[in-house]
Amino acid sequence: MKKIAVFTSGGDAPGMNACIRAIVRGATYHGVEVYGIVRGYNGMIKGDIIPLNSQSVSNIIQRGGTILKSARSKEFMTSAGRELAYQQLKEKGIEGLVAIGGNGTFTGAEIFYNEFKIPTVGAPGTIDNDLFGTDYTIGYDTAVNTALDAIDKIRDTADSHDRVFFIEVMGRDSGYIAIECGIAGGAEAVMIPENLTPISEIVSILEQGISKAKSSSIVVVAEGDEEGNAQIIAKKIKESINRDLDIRVTTLGHIQRGGIPTAFDRILASRLGLGALEGLLRGEKNVMAGVVNNQLIYTPFHDTITKKKPVSEDLIRMVEILSI
Ligand code: F6P
Repeated sequence: MKKIAVFTSGGDAPGMNACIRAIVRGATYHGVEVYGIVRGYNGMIKGDIIPLNSQSVSNIIQRGGTILKSARSKEFMTSAGRELAYQQLKEKGIEGLVAIGGNGTFTGAEIFYNEFKIPTVGAPGTIDNDLFGTDYTIGYDTAVNTALDAIDKIRDTADSHDRVFFIEVMGRDSGYIAIECGIAGGAEAVMIPENLTPISEIVSILEQGISKAKSSSIVVVAEGDEEGNAQIIAKKIKESINRDLDIRVTTLGHIQRGGIPTAFDRILASRLGLGALEGLLRGEKNVMAGVVNNQLIYTPFHDTITKKKPVSEDLIRMVEILSI
């Protein structure tokens, strides 16, 4: 394999640049020409493909976002769009791909591989940490720390005003961000899609807090929770609780996607980027590189998108015990 391309797709995540850097520098080290596809699958369809070299990725390891930009491509979901993408890659002589992204990215990559057989290896880049086949995804650690910083700040004002805060964090259908920043932030309760917590239980946790003279409470809500978003949950609590609570809601939103990647994310991204690249050069295809129990492994795209990675029961239990 002499010519490959790398792209980022789906929601951006801090550490994607460190991953691009590792792929480009790894390819250069192995004497392979490397290209960057701009704006994910959309750029593939349009042929927006640029040459990269060691210097193109200088001074980016510390930057959030992605220098290759990202998109969620509707056109790539059509077979006509994928045919156009294939023609562009063929024309430019691209023999292999490294895809950095999450669920949607690998769903597209699997279909594309089955149709056109261009070897593709993925690197898991999403703040959601929802991919089977890796203990951690690139960007997750930074997102948890960003959310944690916000929780700590909200705790100050909550405490000054004796308020209850519902803080909504991202994660799509996964509760990973919520559970970990909830534990680290000392939340009174965490609501995640993997573990249904009825409104009545939150009411009783808040009432217990009042009876113990707790001046403030924090409830972290994962955006995918079955009871609804934080606004809806706060409204339900107000209607169910027999107290005059001063409740506020904060939705952290896209702040969780930006910022300087933590050391953990930079190292993970470098390891996964190089792992994906070297896997591709060794003949791996239709798989995602991941780190499980500190070992680099490759998992078929199909498993990464269809198998569940459950939030550990230990963590769920820990929230219950430590918030009393
Ligand atoms: O997958 C990353 C993520 O940030 C999710 O946590 C969130 O649900 C979604 O993307 C938001 O997507 P968008 O930026 O397209 O609104």
